[in-house]
Amino acid sequence: MASDDIVQFFDTTLRDGEQAAGVNLNPAEKFQIARQLAAMRIDVIEAGFPAASPGDFDCVETISREVKGPVICALARTRGGDVKAAGDSLKQAERSRIHVFIATSPIHMEYKLKMTPEQVMAEVERAVPLARSLAHEVEFSAEDASRSDPAFLIRVFKAAVAGGATVLNIPDTVGYALPDEFARFVRTIMDGVAAPANVMYSVHCHNDLGLAVANSLAAVKAGARQVEGTINGLGERGGNAALEEVVMGLRTRRDFYAIDVAMDTTKLVTTSRQVSRLTGVIVPPNKPIVGANAFTHEAGIHQHGVLANRETYEIMRAEDVGAEAAVMVLGKHSGRHAFKERLESLGYRLTKEELDKAFMSFKRLCDAKKEVSGGDIEALVADEVLSVAPEHRYELKRLEYETHPVGVVSLVTLERDGKDLSDSAIGNGPIDAACLAVRRIIGIEPELRNFTVAATSARTSAQGETHMGVQYKGIAAAGRGVSTDVVEASVKAFINAVNNLYVVAAAKELKINGD
Ligand code: KIV
Ligand code: ZN
Repeated sequence: MASDDIVQFFDTTLRDGEQAAGVNLNPAEKFQIARQLAAMRIDVIEAGFPAASPGDFDCVETISREVKGPVICALARTRGGDVKAAGDSLKQAERSRIHVFIATSPIHMEYKLKMTPEQVMAEVERAVPLARSLAHEVEFSAEDASRSDPAFLIRVFKAAVAGGATVLNIPDTVGYALPDEFARFVRTIMDGVAAPANVMYSVHCHNDLGLAVANSLAAVKAGARQVEGTINGLGERGGNAALEEVVMGLRTRRDFYAIDVAMDTTKLVTTSRQVSRLTGVIVPPNKPIVGANAFTHEAGIHQHGVLANRETYEIMRAEDVGAEAAVMVLGKHSGRHAFKERLESLGYRLTKEELDKAFMSFKRLCDAKKEVSGGDIEALVADEVLSVAPEHRYELKRLEYETHPVGVVSLVTLERDGKDLSDSAIGNGPIDAACLAVRRIIGIEPELRNFTVAATSARTSAQGETHMGVQYKGIAAAGRGVSTDVVEASVKAFINAVNNLYVVAAAKELKINGD
């Protein structure tokens, strides 16, 4: 498996990324992201943690069955039940990997696991061979490796290799490592384990000190051949290593790393936008590689230089990451062929039925706005074509609002099972009033946990794209809405979040409102 001049990418957006505060992806959304990752030729997709919930299990099972190309991976603690659940969820994968982990640092062993180092060794010796009997390959991770005793870590890794693991992962779980030190650490472990050539070393860096990408690159220089991370660096606390930054670091500085990657980097911007849209986590404009300004030159002196020779100020080409395709616009005179080409340049290859549906939605959108940007098209494809929307319990039929001296009055009509349900409310502004009216109709009061509004392009004709996270009786869910009217987009996001709340509750076998 190991190759000296190729680095593999292990995407954990659907597992570690989803652990980010306020992020809740439903199964259809996870499936959409997995499909996009496969289109981008990611090497490994960590699809979930099957023992965590029946919903997670189903998700890994669906991705294993439907997504071909990448290795599909499922996470498991060393417990027998976890490893078996991972194995069962991966049965239909073309290439399956069980990712077994246990902590090896003194602080984690003593306070979290309440285990002695010898007990941890025994867990590894039992769990890894079991995992190997249930999947094509096994990855073993020593959680909090960077704060572990190297001699102990070497013993644990040797046991994992003896049990059949062919990927040894060295996580910097709390983002504590520094690049030079981490590179030395990786080298020490590799020399100490002295594993056979079919064993690959991997790193998994968190970004608490803003060093996840730097640590990952330093580890590659030291000999790691798999890098784990997430799209947009999504993840708990400061997040994980942003895969788009690592891959472009290796590509752009090939002269230094002398290493290849298989990923189709021209799909990076589309993938980033899709993840941002589905999670509601907005990408800052100055974010390297995928931010809206990543290839924009504002200063006259820079613009002049780039016009004379782009390499004066550009170390990467916008087209290498798919950034150019994202800003060109289409209009109502654009035909089906131009639309299809545009979709392809954005990284979407749709079936004939999907294309028909997308084209009809595009034409409807052209009636509402003159210019349709790449962002509009991506929003349309994500919302109306690729999403296997959860059953729509409530749908927005009518929304009206009026400003009065006492506040804004909103009248909302929702449809449920063919019946119209209407109510009105008064609020601080139109969004507040409409969401209060929705709460009255549905008879529950979900608490709003986060709310973001973004525009699909930098034009006044842009669509508003909103995202809301809600919580009710400990159940969290998120929803999205897109419309040329930002109030309508917000109310749609709220209703979508409520619908998802019922889906999450059903997956957890919980009841909302006696339903
Ligand atoms: O950060 C970490 O240590 C993890 C492991 C499960 C690999 O996410
Ligand atoms: Zn992690």
